[in-house]
Amino acid sequence: MLAGDHGWAAQKSMQILVGLGIIYGADRLIPVTSVQVAGVSYDNLGNAGLEYLMGLAEGGGSARVLTTLNPAGMDIENWQILGIPPEFAEKQTLVLNAFARMGIEITCTCTPYLSGNLPIYGEHIAWSESSAVCFANSVIGARTNREGGPSALAAALTGFTPEYGYHLPTARLPGISFQLDFSLTGTMQFGALGKVIGEIIERMPEKPVPILTGIPSATLEELKSFCASIATYGGAAMIHMQNITPEAQQMPLPPRKVTISEHQLHTAIVSLQEASAEEVDFASLGCPHLSLAEIAHLATLLAGKQVRKEFWLTTSRATRRLADQAGYTQIIESAGAKFAVDTCCVVAPIRKRFRTMATDSVKACYYAYAKNGFKTRLLPFEQVVAEVTE
Ligand code: F3S
Repeated sequence: MLAGDHGWAAQKSMQILVGLGIIYGADRLIPVTSVQVAGVSYDNLGNAGLEYLMGLAEGGGSARVLTTLNPAGMDIENWQILGIPPEFAEKQTLVLNAFARMGIEITCTCTPYLSGNLPIYGEHIAWSESSAVCFANSVIGARTNREGGPSALAAALTGFTPEYGYHLPTARLPGISFQLDFSLTGTMQFGALGKVIGEIIERMPEKPVPILTGIPSATLEELKSFCASIATYGGAAMIHMQNITPEAQQMPLPPRKVTISEHQLHTAIVSLQEASAEEVDFASLGCPHLSLAEIAHLATLLAGKQVRKEFWLTTSRATRRLADQAGYTQIIESAGAKFAVDTCCVVAPIRKRFRTMATDSVKACYYAYAKNGFKTRLLPFEQVVAEVTE
């Protein structure tokens, strides 16, 4: 491949992987079985990114393993309903066409593990999308580094990744333990815990893998929220939770131990509640993308109600289809909430379009402010619905 025997796209991709391998001191390349590519929204890619993708597609790029895509900048079918400009839709379609030409599945979700790209324990994969990377390493026990969009795409077009970092057992050992002496529940609280611990890790030069103790149980939705948040605020690619995540059972507790108090959790939540209920003009649930269970819960919460603000529910098209079949979509849309499928409130081009966003997602709060210039009102899942309905 490096010599160009498999075409220009494979050669370019192999050059990227070999370069990375040299930088990180990898001894060899290893095969991967699954890839998740981020960097899909035209809002992030711009024309330079679009040209790079079109060049790879024209250069014979072809995915050699199952490869799925992160959210795009719009709902592929219903972008007009979300107020996406036609010029943007045109460019976004070119981006998606380039990926499709390379044999990549146009899944457009940050929860590939809920939509057909589910590796098993110990499998070597190459994923980008920080929340999914943390979920794959921690909750599933698959092995991936925190790839960037280009290196993940290079892995897709070659079927290989350099063996370093989280592909090796030593990098997965915990370096610090966090003890909780209070109970927590719900996506918002788990997300806030990710912020508290993430900010502590972020300040440590060696960025240790954390192991959490004292959490009796966690749902899939709570874990996806926690992983998204600790990846955003701490750059974490992997965590362990004693008695919950699979590798935690084999891990020795490190000597370094920090106790997290309920007061710290409360402070993290309050710091993201900078706006009052009256100031909210936009609400979004589904960062990371909603599971079918969350959509079922939303149908119960919204039945017979009317939404009085712009309210986006972000999920994958595959999950939305299941919601259609179950009758949840009809209940939710009758209430006036909008499904924003294939996209999310962070990667859609909505900079400055709203003033204040209500959400249960601690990760979404970070980007709402940093990327879109919104104030945030962080609330529990059910309370977001309560505040935008009558
Ligand atoms: Fe997913 Fe968008 Fe949040 S990609 S994790 S919903 S910022």
